[in-house]
Amino acid sequence: MKQLVTGGAGFIGANYIHYILEARADARVVCLDALTYAGNYKTLASALGSGRLSFVKGDIRDAALVDELFRGDSFDAVLNFAAESHVDRSIDDPGLFLDTNILGVRTLMDACRKYGTGRFHQVSTDEVYGDLPLDRPDMRFTEATPLRASSPYSASKASADLLALAYHRTYGLPVTISRCSNNYGPYQFPEKLIPLMIINAVGGKSLPVYGKGENVRDWVHVNDHSRAIDAIVTRGRPGEVYNIGGGSEMANIDVVRMIIEKLGKDSGLIRHIADRPGHDKRYAVDFGKIKAELGWEPQVGFEDGLSGVIDWYLANEPWWSEIISGAYKDYYDGMYGARLAAGTGEAAGRAGLR
Ligand code: NAD
Ligand code: TYD
Repeated sequence: MKQLVTGGAGFIGANYIHYILEARADARVVCLDALTYAGNYKTLASALGSGRLSFVKGDIRDAALVDELFRGDSFDAVLNFAAESHVDRSIDDPGLFLDTNILGVRTLMDACRKYGTGRFHQVSTDEVYGDLPLDRPDMRFTEATPLRASSPYSASKASADLLALAYHRTYGLPVTISRCSNNYGPYQFPEKLIPLMIINAVGGKSLPVYGKGENVRDWVHVNDHSRAIDAIVTRGRPGEVYNIGGGSEMANIDVVRMIIEKLGKDSGLIRHIADRPGHDKRYAVDFGKIKAELGWEPQVGFEDGLSGVIDWYLANEPWWSEIISGAYKDYYDGMYGARLAAGTGEAAGRAGLR
């Protein structure tokens, strides 16, 4: 079984590669990754040593390179993890998100059509559905929920989903799509909530919580996501969308408090800062379809999973300290500097002042 995995030097793609090489002895993987700020070759170091993974540095929008790859190899499936993935960055620079997340998908699908690839899997997100109100715990996203993306990031992912489904209907391309909620796990870039809070807390730095921290996310351990994708690619029906959820809804402030507690730090580190524009209130995913059709459900509980991830970051400081000492510093100062200076401490945030 040979798969082309794009974006495999990023958080979820790399975890998938480690997972699939371990889970399937016959798996061979070619990873295509542009190594943007979010890609890290070192994340794949142990897998590269297995002899079953090869790495190509390149852009999914580069049609000539993609064609050359397909001409020289034969893939049973193409799994597209490559994307610009951070909502805050998409608010600053939407254009890059449209280019990579939509046009890159087109390039890959055109190659799949031309070379008759048996499966194209698009790794999408529950954010394409927009958000849910905080006061309606009965509501969840199903695959039939209309697309109502809120951010340039989620709008670009929704566009790619529509394009993938159009290629299925128009050209008969055997496409599947997975829409997963927020992932956490090893090797996540520290711009995202959980690794950012762990790393800041370890360093005794402020913990920047957007608004009151009441927004809710449904957390999935990345290994559960990898298992779900494997099930969909091998047993899912072409033309279908499958939601993936963790059944672990948490308000951001509670996640931050759990991290503080597990690390034995002081809640005085929490700073409530200016909110993200258009900030989605709540995500919650109904994963009944993948459970009924493919027998998948999450196995990692949030408390245990979070403890494991905290331990991983504590044990792998060289992996992240290299990141935060580079261009990340400029990103962090630009994104948080002024907001932290104007932010308020935990007591004010609790009182609803911000
Ligand atoms: P990430 O930002 O950690 O990694 C993205 C990877 O894609 C990086 O290795 C980067 O170098 C690569 N890449 C970016 N542009 C590229 C291009 N033009 N050509 C080739 N490679 C390119 O992202 P992630 O968190 O691992 O997310 C992976 C996928 O899963 C994305 O499609 C994202 O939309 C989706 N997703 C993420 C989450 C989450 O919680 N992180 C949840 C659901 C779905
Ligand atoms: P994030 O990890 O960026 O994922 P997404 O926006 O795709 O859900 O953010 C998760 C939640 O945490 C989101 O509600 C925004 C919030 N957040 C903060 O409060 N502070 C931060 O520094 C970051 C990065 C996120």
